[in-house]
Amino acid sequence: MTDEPIAMAVLRGLRASPKALPAALLYDALGSALFEAITELPEYGLTRADLRMIERHAGDVVRALDGPLDVVELGPGGGRKAALFLRAVTARQPRTVFTAVDVSASALHECQRALEQLDGVEVRRVEATYLDGLRRAARVPDARRLVLFLGSNLSNFDRRDALGFLRDVRATLSPGDALLLATDLEKPAERLLPAYDDALGVTAAFNRNLLVRINRECGADFALADFAHEARWNAPERRIEMHLVARRACEVHLRGEVIRFAAGESIWTESSHRFRTDELRAWGDESGFGCAGQWTDAEWPFAHTLLLAR
Ligand SMILES: C[S@@+](CC[C@H](N)C(=O)[O-])C[C@H]1O[C@@H](n2cnc3c(N)ncnc32)[C@H](O)[C@@H]1O
Repeated sequence: MTDEPIAMAVLRGLRASPKALPAALLYDALGSALFEAITELPEYGLTRADLRMIERHAGDVVRALDGPLDVVELGPGGGRKAALFLRAVTARQPRTVFTAVDVSASALHECQRALEQLDGVEVRRVEATYLDGLRRAARVPDARRLVLFLGSNLSNFDRRDALGFLRDVRATLSPGDALLLATDLEKPAERLLPAYDDALGVTAAFNRNLLVRINRECGADFALADFAHEARWNAPERRIEMHLVARRACEVHLRGEVIRFAAGESIWTESSHRFRTDELRAWGDESGFGCAGQWTDAEWPFAHTLLLAR
């Protein structure tokens, strides 16, 4: 996702074959609120695993990085994980600058609200895509930058793009800076699919809200009833895919264009890849980092990988 206007990104995605839209578009104000609700669902084990890992290992991460830290999080959402992580940082240093980079203005607002309660934390907000925001995040002089990329946000990239992304992150950093990468690990499809197609229908609402957003912000006329949420496991690619599937042949109008859907045709709205611990270490190495630690959660296989810029 770049910072191009939404209507252009949507038109480009709907003209493509197969039709596909950037996952970042899921996060308008309602999308961000629905994502927070997803993290509370019994089927969605990722957030609880990530929080358990932060609780257990944030201290180890901070101990591995001496000197003052300048913390940046890419895509923090409502900031719940940052609040927990920063406890370990504020226990060591009296003042911490925390920069939140997110495309969602409402998520940034929530994040600021959650973190400004913490003693000694100055919150800065950058409303931007990950790399653009990281490049714009002013550095704290004489501090080591620690970038947090939690919640398995890396899962949304195709594997090839994920490696490119890590290289681009590395290029913004200086030797000794660090990246804490939290990623979901492989697990059986029977366990994963319900996390993206929950019984209450919150993930379905999160996905279908994209059409509500496109109608509102781009003047399109998607009939919501014509599109169903579907989560698919793509075994060779080791990813869950979210789709919006046309229940019947239909037409949608957007900025003077007619977009035609055959019955059963889908818009691919999100990919969520699963990883292996060794591939994460190898990608770190290939993108200019050394692995300074890796921790895993046994209850819901999940990894925190601490990468140090060489
Ligand atoms: C899956 S949520 C995870 C939130 C949080 N990291 C967590 O673990 O609960 C992804 C977050 O990243 C933001 N986001 C998604 N794509 C983005 C992009 N390309 N650039 C910046 N922010 C993005 C969303 O607005 C959202 O807040």
